[in-house]
Amino acid sequence: MDDLLQIAIDGPASAGKSTVAKLVAHQLGYVYCDTGAMYRAVTWAARKEGIKADDNAALEKMLKNLEISFKPAVDGQRVYVGHAEVTTAIRLPEIARSVSTIAAQVSVRKALTKRQQEIAANGGIVMDGRDIGTTVLPNANVKIFLVASVKERALRRYKENKAKGIVADLKQLEQEIAKRDYKDSTRAVSPLVQAVDAIKVDTTQLSIDEVVAKIMEIIQKKGKK
Ligand code: DC
Repeated sequence: MDDLLQIAIDGPASAGKSTVAKLVAHQLGYVYCDTGAMYRAVTWAARKEGIKADDNAALEKMLKNLEISFKPAVDGQRVYVGHAEVTTAIRLPEIARSVSTIAAQVSVRKALTKRQQEIAANGGIVMDGRDIGTTVLPNANVKIFLVASVKERALRRYKENKAKGIVADLKQLEQEIAKRDYKDSTRAVSPLVQAVDAIKVDTTQLSIDEVVAKIMEIIQKKGKK
């Protein structure tokens, strides 16, 4: 494959997008872009500035001077807002609680979509999110829509939390995931929806390696066309 492709991986929360996207990018020698982290970084900055999650105008103003960047590191990608490293902070529960509201604001979507299009302009990119195949990169060479049952996704989150020493309630995780799915799928702007030309991959019964192998196979086929 000589051409540098644009690969879009969308799907609901905890379907395994970022783990899989990172591995696919690594195998291809491509850049990985986690657009969820960008929405989380905006949420972190808004909280710091005391801006309400639904204050579209104030967010628009804040975004004019907000620098979000990614830097590679041995333990994965680091996320920065200006000079502040926010890699861990953007994963905290208080960010998860308001990020859906922030991500529903027109000004935020407009600004981040533009930045994401600039990042992906030259190809050689694996970008994961909710609206990459539909809105950000409608002409992406390969579009994957990753899904898994709510039960399975809650269980994965539960195990992740446990490994980090965070005690979580499985039922509550299920409810939170279902709520986030609903919010992300019903918002007016760029809702979470499968692009007509995306290939659905259900990861409920698959290991990470199996999902990566499946996606690599799809990419090989498409890339040769
Ligand atoms: O993938 P994640 O859980 O880190 O995403 C955080 C939030 O950002 C999630 O509630 C949906 C939103 N998001 C979005 O609306 N569009 C994207 N392209 C990526 C994430």
